[in-house]
This record gives sequence, structure tokens and C-alpha cells, in this order.
Amino acid sequence: MLVTGGAGYIGSHVVKELTIAGHDVVVYDNLSKGHREAVRGGTFIHGDLADKGLLRETMRAHGVDVVVHLAADTSVAESMSNPAVYYQNNVVNGLTLLDTMLECGVKRIVFSSSAAVYGEPEKVPITEDASKRPTNVYGETKLVFEGILAAYDRAYGLKYISLRYFNAAGADESGEIGEDHNPETQLIPIVLQTALGQRPYLEIYGTDYPTRDGTCIRDYIHVSDLAVAHILAAEALMNGVPSNVYNLGNESGHSVREVVSVAEKVVGHKIPVREAGRRPGDPAVLVASSEKIRRDLGWRPRYANLEDIVASAWKWHSRHPRGYEAG
Ligand code: UFG
Repeated sequence: MLVTGGAGYIGSHVVKELTIAGHDVVVYDNLSKGHREAVRGGTFIHGDLADKGLLRETMRAHGVDVVVHLAADTSVAESMSNPAVYYQNNVVNGLTLLDTMLECGVKRIVFSSSAAVYGEPEKVPITEDASKRPTNVYGETKLVFEGILAAYDRAYGLKYISLRYFNAAGADESGEIGEDHNPETQLIPIVLQTALGQRPYLEIYGTDYPTRDGTCIRDYIHVSDLAVAHILAAEALMNGVPSNVYNLGNESGHSVREVVSVAEKVVGHKIPVREAGRRPGDPAVLVASSEKIRRDLGWRPRYANLEDIVASAWKWHSRHPRGYEAG
């Protein structure tokens, strides 16, 4: 099995779970955002998706039969200021991957998609058939690639499962791998860096949303639960299921203030916050229905409550306050 982006936050957890489940894994990552130390299993290839020759050689040399494709740029803000890079990396380089797969006779792919394909939802919980109107370029690139996969299925018989993640959070129970972005933009790492004294305060982006406490509500899902879903999806494809699309969330929403108060409980002290204006493009509420993947693939989250998710993230951040940099 080939995992692109296997050195990233979600990818490294996918690699770990695949290895535990006994799969042979080849990790393909250009390390532009990922970390070599995060790859705890499998064979590592330092390569770029645009390098068709190396991709082809990797697929042939390792007898790849399924691809799990996570390599992508993921910052919403950056996608708005630099759309060229997002379309290049998330769409054009993804096409190179698909064309190389077809050349090598590989016809199964699990694709890392996002709740960002929906944009501002009309109703929650969000089901897979809800309207898709992304509010940022990142979400557009994920939606375009989903469309490409559907076209490749119709034309060339490529079978895919797209997984639309809600808010990935937490870290592997070992405390050895976790979230380390530069710059960090995600709420839970920022809250925990504030708890460690690395930031003076957390800025709460918007306190006037139409929610129970005025702050945005999100559906936080443990990264290891996400990872297990990739194994179920890859195995289902190997068993010949038709192409499909699934949401992945915990089906419960937590506001920014609730995340802070759960984190205070986990770390055992107050975390300073400041109220700030809204961040452009943030929907008020995003909560998944994950009913479809539960029903079709038998997926069940192990970490259903936010406190366990934040506690696992704290284990990583408190042991590795500077992320992978300090080892
Ligand atoms: N937030 C703050 N302060 C911060 C950081 C975040 O108040 O310093 C708030 C945000 O405004 C948002 C919530 O915390 O309401 C969660 O923000 P994150 O940046 O952690 O996550 P997002 O919901 O913005 O983003 C996630 C994924 C993206 C995906 C998006 C889909 O991380 O990859 O959902 O909308 F595109």
C-alpha cells in the first residue's frame, strides 16, 4: 500500500495504524510540511508527487495495489492568498498520481477530502448529499479532486473512497507522534501551546456567532479514529466495493469556549484568552453525520469524548513542547 503524505499529521497516524494492522506500507512524502521522525513504520521514499518517474518506479518496485492519498497543502488562509500553489499541489499533482496509478495498473485509491467541501451548511448534522459550496480555495481543490475521481471511475474503472474529515485532533496514545504545523493555525494545538506558556493568550475568533455561547462549533475527531477509517476504506476497496464518499466526525459539536474549558481541566490550570473578531470564512457550526460510514464500513470511534481527545493531544505537546524539532 502506498501512502502519500505519510509524514504529515494525519498521514503519520494512518501509517502507524496500517502497520499495526499488518499492512505493507510505502510512505511517499516530499517533507515540505511533514516530518521524517513522524514516520513510524513502512519504507520511506523522499519524493514529490510531481516526480512521475519516481512515483512509477515506487509503485512498480513495491507492487503497490492501493494508494492512500493524503499529500496536500491544507491551510485555508494560505489557499486564499496563493491559489496557484493549491491548485498545483492538490489538483495537478494529484492528477499525476492518478495517471501514474493507471499506467501501473493500480485502480484503488482512498482520498483525503474535507468538510471544507460543504462551505456554510444549510442544516446540521451534515450528510454526504448536502450541497457543496466551498467558501475557500482549499475546499474547492478537494471538491474538484473528488469530481476527477468520479470521472476516472466512469472512464477508466478507478475505484475510490473519499473521506471528508471534520476537525482532526489529538495524538497517538504512545505520545510519540502528534500535531506539529509551522505556522500552527489549529485550535487545540494553539490552546495547548498557550497552556505551556509558549503564547501569552489564545485569541477567540468571534464571540457573536448564533451559537449557545457565541463562539464557533466544530466536530472534533481523534486522528487515530480517522486513521482506522482509512484501513477500513482500503480493505473495502480490495474486497471490490464500489466507489463512495464518507464523512468522518464524532457527530457532536463543541464551541471554542468549551474546548478551552475542557483543556483547562486536562492541564489543571487556567488558560488565558482574549476575544477577537471573526476569522473570515469560518462557518458558525460544522457537525458531521457519520452514520453512512458506520453503516457501510462498520467504523466506530474509540475516542468519543472531547476530554480524551484533548488529553491525548496534551500528552504529545507536554512531552514535545517544540514538536519534532527537539526530538
Ligand atoms: N479558532 C480560534 N482561535 C485560534 C484558532 C482557531 O478561535 O487561534 C477557532 C476557529 O475560528 C474555529 C475553531 O477554532 O471556529 C476551529 O478552528 P481550526 O483552525 O482548528 O479548524 P477549522 O474548523 O477552521 O478547520 C478545519 C480543518 C480544515 C478544514 C476546515 C473545514 O482544519 O482543514 O475545518 O471548514 F478546511
